Amino acid sequence: MTFDPVRIRHDFPILSRKVRGKSLVYFDNAATTQKPAPVIEAISQYYKTTNANVHRGVHTLSEEATTALEEARIRVAQFIGAADPATIIFTRNTTEAINLVAYAWGRKNLKKGEEILLTEMEHHSNLIPWQILSQETGAKIQTITVTPEGTLDMESFRKNLNSRTRLVAFAAMSNVLGTINPIQEIVEGAHRNGSLVLVDGAAAIPHLPFNVSASNVDFLAFSGHKMLGPTGVGVLYGKKELLEAMPPFLGGGGMIQQVSLETATYAAPPTRFEAGTPDIAGAIGLRAAIEYLHKVGLETVQQHERELTRKALELLRSEPEVVLYGPGLEHRGGIISFNLEGVHPHDVGTIFDSEGVAIRVGHHCCQPLMKKFKISGTARLSFYLYNTEEELEAIPRALHKVKKIFKSGVKV
Ligand SMILES: Cc1ncc(COP(=O)(O)O)c(C=O)c1O
Repeated sequence: MTFDPVRIRHDFPILSRKVRGKSLVYFDNAATTQKPAPVIEAISQYYKTTNANVHRGVHTLSEEATTALEEARIRVAQFIGAADPATIIFTRNTTEAINLVAYAWGRKNLKKGEEILLTEMEHHSNLIPWQILSQETGAKIQTITVTPEGTLDMESFRKNLNSRTRLVAFAAMSNVLGTINPIQEIVEGAHRNGSLVLVDGAAAIPHLPFNVSASNVDFLAFSGHKMLGPTGVGVLYGKKELLEAMPPFLGGGGMIQQVSLETATYAAPPTRFEAGTPDIAGAIGLRAAIEYLHKVGLETVQQHERELTRKALELLRSEPEVVLYGPGLEHRGGIISFNLEGVHPHDVGTIFDSEGVAIRVGHHCCQPLMKKFKISGTARLSFYLYNTEEELEAIPRALHKVKKIFKSGVKV
């Protein structure tokens, strides 16, 4: 069936609501995405028919809930090309997945004087956990420079990679600039150097095909809520031998083999890293989201967003006072950051909202990148499969309103 975003929109109940008397235009997909009826329904059905705690019960509901959770794990593994579902750990989100690696792998493996290589465009989620780790271990953070165009300076990658580099951790796609980073080049360079690679896939995994086996990454983190799934569930993929050698992250029920009052032995991964009752409904919702995305096809999603981004960039370039950030279309996913000269991004966001257009404004949890570009924040548009070309018309309309209000001295 041919791809039709207008038809797809019927699956998303929230998209028919009004905001400030206008039809909602949702361009805040890099923050979180809307949920289609099959995801909402899967969660609702689980609570209506199956709800029970997992792993510890012998009764029917508990067995069914356990099967549903483990089937979700298998589906996630297939989705990212992981050969073994045991390499999939359910976390709360990308942030928790990265913290898990920093805590469990990092504390065991990093020593004073060793280095973690990040980039200047990292989300705080892929920065603060390493800062905490470096304060504890004495390991140092190095960074790959971002060019004025918003791409990674690969010369600085090669320069900073050395015998002390234990891990290279970077975003597959920047949540501010939309830059799609050269994953393969970084993975190959890092591995030749004997360094591991963690990919922050929060902004990329929902929007383009990615295969952990083909790309040979060591760790991958992403969030369900940014890919049509519910909030509260995320994923850490890790190579089996790395996970097996890692101590636990959180301790508690479910992650053990044998416990005495003094000590305990731990379960094998993924159970070792899933202490306490997991977000069972969340995992089931994530599975439904993956089925939905699979039906549409991630290549189709990526192509559609590319077309929207091309048109939106054209519209924005024709506005004289708009400053755009980030690279050309060949290196960019469906994210556009911009500023309107002389107007604070929060004011831009407020006026867009008055037109029913949801965009994100501010530093986008990337303060070092803002500092680099000498700005306090940006206004950010981010697209997904249910956005339409017609919706793009709201951009110049809202921008003209911003200019009218903030540039003409008219009081509101
Ligand atoms: C690139 C990137 N990394 C990490 C995160 C954190 O995701 P979460 O809040 O779901 O943990 C985000 C969220 O905006 C992101 O865009």
